[in-house]
Amino acid sequence: MSDDVIRVVLNGEPVTLPAAADDTLLEVLRRERVHSTRESCGQGVCGTCTVLVDGRSVASCILLAHLADDTELETAEGLGLPGHLGVVQEAFVAEAGFQCGFCTPGMVLAATELLRRNPTPTDDEIRHHLAGNLCRCGAYPEILAAVRHAARLLAEEA
Ligand code: FES
Ligand code: FES
Repeated sequence: MSDDVIRVVLNGEPVTLPAAADDTLLEVLRRERVHSTRESCGQGVCGTCTVLVDGRSVASCILLAHLADDTELETAEGLGLPGHLGVVQEAFVAEAGFQCGFCTPGMVLAATELLRRNPTPTDDEIRHHLAGNLCRCGAYPEILAAVRHAARLLAEEA
């Protein structure tokens, strides 16, 4: 491991990213213009900076970037982009699972992690899994409906 870079697979693409020893993963990704990964609390409690690291949701604001060296990272951009949204993103649109949208990338990533592990979650399992992702707009009923909707779409695809 070099002191000033990390090597990761970011949304399927191997990349080498500049990273100082005290940079968080969030800081490194924002410099790379990964705009879906957002800082709010900066303390690991709100989930807006969620990134999937080797498939597990992580608060990138409190993860030193070098601890993510040699991992696979997924951000919302890797799930889909406007015009080619992924299934979970489509479900959030269909159920209006957002208001301002600030929490949405993190919510979508956390929901993706859950549905990969548990394709048929109960409402309580969804609430429990998303407990680390806060929505300041209070769109929780619609977010719950969106995750249920995504589970149905994924089941139909399977
Ligand atoms: S900004 Fe990282 S958890 Fe809130
Ligand atoms: S939609 Fe605004 S913070 Fe969740």
